[in-house]
Amino acid sequence: MKNLSVEHHIESREILVETEAHANIALVKYWGKRDQKKNLPAAGSVSLTLNTLRTRTELTVSPRYSSDKFILNGTILDGPELQKISRFANLICGTGKRMKLHGESDNNFPTGAGLASSASGYAALAAACKEAYSLSMNRRKLSQFARRGSGSAARSLYGGFVEMIAGKGTEENYDYASQLYDENYWDVKMVIAITSEDKKPVGSTEGMNRTALTSPFYRSWIHSSEKDIQEMKMAICDRDIEKAGELSEHSAFKMHGLAMSARPPVLYWNPATVEAIQAVWDLRKKGIQAYVTMDAGPQVKVFCEAASEKAVCDLLESVPGVIKVISAGPGPSVKVKKKIKLNLNGK
Ligand code: PMV
Repeated sequence: MKNLSVEHHIESREILVETEAHANIALVKYWGKRDQKKNLPAAGSVSLTLNTLRTRTELTVSPRYSSDKFILNGTILDGPELQKISRFANLICGTGKRMKLHGESDNNFPTGAGLASSASGYAALAAACKEAYSLSMNRRKLSQFARRGSGSAARSLYGGFVEMIAGKGTEENYDYASQLYDENYWDVKMVIAITSEDKKPVGSTEGMNRTALTSPFYRSWIHSSEKDIQEMKMAICDRDIEKAGELSEHSAFKMHGLAMSARPPVLYWNPATVEAIQAVWDLRKKGIQAYVTMDAGPQVKVFCEAASEKAVCDLLESVPGVIKVISAGPGPSVKVKKKIKLNLNGK
């Protein structure tokens, strides 16, 4: 995928931008790639962008810089982590002959612990690169670049309910994210129980690959995803919490069951994860419509309507092993907060 629209004549200017993107949690999960190199998903997914979990990224590109530099949550990146950022910038610019960048990114939530930090991180970075390098591309194209950084990042470019559409074969023009409904459509909540702030032992890419190669259930996972997506879109359209909740819980357990069936197994849960799941199921028996979802980590996320938020928060806070509870509603699309151009030759 080439983007040759970098404005090479801006090389006497330094540009500083600040962007903000929000994490998203999938209601129909993405788990499996059909092309590693282009990071193409094997199936589509549906997500909810979250208002309280955000990444803020500041990026300066300048002809004065001789190398890229990137600070993530106060730590200077080097080695493969920095190379990944540099390769991402080369890809989005369509060339390695670009101005070098100095960037700083902060998450207001634990990084790499199954809370979709790579989603908000790469969405914020993609938007920052687009602005800083003055690239002309629409949101759909930007979502395709964000997807190269992390599959779920494409969805974080949009607010509210979002669908990631999967194409076929090695063609990547048909793999992009698209907004279903904005953040004002339905007053739902995702209440998150943090059960560990450690980095996950198996990254999502490794987990997906191992699953695709070794799980006997991988094919049926891919085959059943289309129906899950169609049903989820209908449930969201009807604002039907029971249907959307049941389906999101099913998709999460199907994904985790699949990962557990890999060889060796991929297990993201800890004892508090199981305690929290059972507590939510008990709450549901009392008539509260609350549904569990989990990603590549031990955190338990509970999908419910706003009216049930307090009951769910109170419950999760009382579960042994839960460190912290964060509540989120539907969040907005990626934003450019600042853009400053500095003319270096004083003109
Ligand atoms: O975006 P990635 O490559 O980190 O994969 C995300 C995978 C899950 O969070 C487990 C599911 C999803 O659809 O977000």
